[in-house]
Amino acid sequence: MNKFTYHNPTRIHFGEGQIAAIANDIPQDKKVLVLYGGGSIKTNGVYDQVVAALADHQWGEFGGIEANPQYDTLMQAVTKIQSEGFDFLLAVGGGSVIDGTKFVAAAASYAGDDPWHILANNKPVTAALPLACVLTLPATGSENNMGAVVSRGKDKLAFMSPLVQPRFAVLDPQTTLSLSPRQVANGVVDAYVHVMEQYLTYPADAKVQDRFAEGLLLTLIEEGPKALATPDDMAVRANVMWAATQALNGLIGVGVPQDWTTHMIGHELTGNYGIDHARTLSIVLPAVMQEQRSCKEAKLLQYGERIFGITEGSTDERIDAAIAQTIAFFKQMTVPTRLSDVELGSDAVDVIMASLESHGMTALGEHGKIGLAESRAILNTAL
Ligand code: NZQ
Ligand code: ZN
Repeated sequence: MNKFTYHNPTRIHFGEGQIAAIANDIPQDKKVLVLYGGGSIKTNGVYDQVVAALADHQWGEFGGIEANPQYDTLMQAVTKIQSEGFDFLLAVGGGSVIDGTKFVAAAASYAGDDPWHILANNKPVTAALPLACVLTLPATGSENNMGAVVSRGKDKLAFMSPLVQPRFAVLDPQTTLSLSPRQVANGVVDAYVHVMEQYLTYPADAKVQDRFAEGLLLTLIEEGPKALATPDDMAVRANVMWAATQALNGLIGVGVPQDWTTHMIGHELTGNYGIDHARTLSIVLPAVMQEQRSCKEAKLLQYGERIFGITEGSTDERIDAAIAQTIAFFKQMTVPTRLSDVELGSDAVDVIMASLESHGMTALGEHGKIGLAESRAILNTAL
């Protein structure tokens, strides 16, 4: 295990009715801007609960943050903040709203000329407005991490800063009941792949991280299909929500190698073709497992045995079975597993390759050895 320092400062309020906790968790003297998406919170009762909790605060609102949040939209929020003097941001929605709010928090305090440089040129975030969130879509883990992904045209780029980590997050599984089956499935698959990107590398003798990761994978395999089959089951919703939050809050990734290849290729698929984030991952991950099977051999065998009970056969047979079981789970979750499932062919491979190159994604993987040739092989395998 490598050395690490771990600190996750996000306070979690979990369970039904916890939106009320906002009232005491945002300092009374703060002027709060509530940011949200396309309007789901107005029809499922979440907005009303937030309004009730903010009864004793001064507050305003900014709606219309789209899925895969766009820079131009977010800059409108920055203008509003600067002209009206908000000093605390409350994101209410899924990963897109939370990520968008993180960027707004940093952009509103940015000293340089164009905050896009935070994403495009890795300019450091040196100040940010405090923010918190009410999560309505379990998937990204954005509610308790320091990352955010923002798009500008076809460029979908990420940044990280401890300054934009939410001060607190409300996780009320009841808020997820209004999700469409597609978004439920996307969320489970995104969380699953987050675990895989921190787990499927090479052994680092990190027993706690491995077994915690395996516990999350098993939970998602057990509860994900139930969330689709029995959508009103609150116990299932609660387990999915907590699993997704734990999948990307840093804990299982400490002290171990990581491989975010699937996400980096997936972001290019969303940027160029608008495919839902999770659906890019379910297409790319099986191909990464296939193409990287020799350098991931030990973890693939461990994954197959501990997650799917695969103990028989040669090394190759066991790895084939582990990949097949992963694909079968994704199919059970009704997400695509090949580029052809989303009507993309070899033309798209060239487009994605050009995007990866222009974004400098030329040394991916736990060894930094997934260059352009390897990414092309992954995409060809995913056809
Ligand atoms: O905009 P509204 O009307 O709220 O509708 C949203 C949106 O259309 C809807 N929705 C959310 N909660 C709902 C609901 N509909 C009904 N009932 C509810 N309770 O769902 C749609 C998708 O929302 P979005 O926020 O885009 O989904 P998700 O949470 O999957 O977030 C995806 C974004 O997060 C980024 C992705 O790249 C993508 O941009 N990621 C962020 C990460 C991070 N910050 O750590 C890591 C991830 O890997 C990911 O890259
Ligand atoms: Zn993701």
